[in-house]
Amino acid sequence: MTSRFDAAAIRSEFPVTKRMLYLDSAHQTPLATSVRSALTDFYSESHETAGPKPVWLRRVEQTRARVASLFNAKPSEVAFTKNTSEGMNIAAHAIPFAAGDNVVLIEGDHPNAAYAWLNQRRRGVEVRFAKLAAESEIASADTFRPLIDERTKVICLSHVSFHAGQRHDLASIGRLCRERGIYLVVDAMQSVGVLPVDVQALNISILAAGTHKGLLVPQGLGVLVVRDGLDELQPAYLAMSSLANPPADYIARPDDMATRKDAARFEIGNLNLPDIQALDAAVEMITKVGVENVERHVLALGDRLIEILDAQAIPLVGPRKREHRAHIYVLRVPVGPWAEHFANNQVRVSPERDGIRISFAMFNTLDDVERLAQVLRLYGAKNSAGQAVERID
Ligand SMILES: Cc1ncc(COP(=O)(O)O)c(C=O)c1O
Repeated sequence: MTSRFDAAAIRSEFPVTKRMLYLDSAHQTPLATSVRSALTDFYSESHETAGPKPVWLRRVEQTRARVASLFNAKPSEVAFTKNTSEGMNIAAHAIPFAAGDNVVLIEGDHPNAAYAWLNQRRRGVEVRFAKLAAESEIASADTFRPLIDERTKVICLSHVSFHAGQRHDLASIGRLCRERGIYLVVDAMQSVGVLPVDVQALNISILAAGTHKGLLVPQGLGVLVVRDGLDELQPAYLAMSSLANPPADYIARPDDMATRKDAARFEIGNLNLPDIQALDAAVEMITKVGVENVERHVLALGDRLIEILDAQAIPLVGPRKREHRAHIYVLRVPVGPWAEHFANNQVRVSPERDGIRISFAMFNTLDDVERLAQVLRLYGAKNSAGQAVERID
């Protein structure tokens, strides 16, 4: 870990850590103090002066630039959206499909990255699903190769799966897409702010994510990266803000509807300014900490968690290899009684398809993992002692 990763300083930014053992950042983020301050600053400005809108709009551009650097993208490649689903739908409607073209997805991936494409069946698009043999398997170019042909326009998948935590091999998939002229569309909802994501190196055409997990902002804001030069991708929705020459007199010009060249052609109308201001503070913090340090940190917590699970004979649903995982670890246990046990012990986790999902963030520590180990042991003790022990304090 480099010296920039000051675990105590980071933890002090997250008051939630004093109240509970929060292991649920793959669900939603607890607010950091600096992010809350950015929001309250916005509300104070709005409360006291109705808002310096030009200042807010300058901050939007500052935030856009910060977000771009997180993805090794250019500011011109970043648009603000509402969430991942909106980004996926923008992508699905922008791709110039012809009837008979196809899209390849991973079966069981997040539904918000599937319905946008399934909806294109109305345009005659075929949706194909690649299957992974197990929840511990990661997708690579080999997963998609048997399903693609000359009519494949898009491969779309999550970078990190929400339900088992696999970190898919975007590098090989990006190479395959480059060779075959396929758009690579990535749902980075789970990985953004946790793992480095380089859209250039990975040959990602379009990336969509919400900001309410690794980007530390409340729900309602998303980011969309659309690579420069993909001018054939055009928005389904239009507003003044999408246009290359918006009418200064606010009178719509039917003869001049050319869209902007940059990704902001996909933005429509006023943006979620408070959340964007919060995002600015969040990305500033994440950048100071260093995403590569967050990655190293959550992997180290995962290493220790796997040792604990092995010692207690609790199976892990997802991958064990470091390079195949990130911050999400699903315990294969019966959900009902375990969810109750975690809640009784002030441990916040999520029920998941195959068990209980534990997810780490920058503010979690090895002490958190040891405390989790105690809670896990207690479940065993409770069951062998006929439910005698309910909680540890
Ligand atoms: C991989 C993934 N995609 C998308 C979403 C959510 O979609 P949206 O941002 O549209 O609410 C989640 C979880 O909330 C997720 O884990």
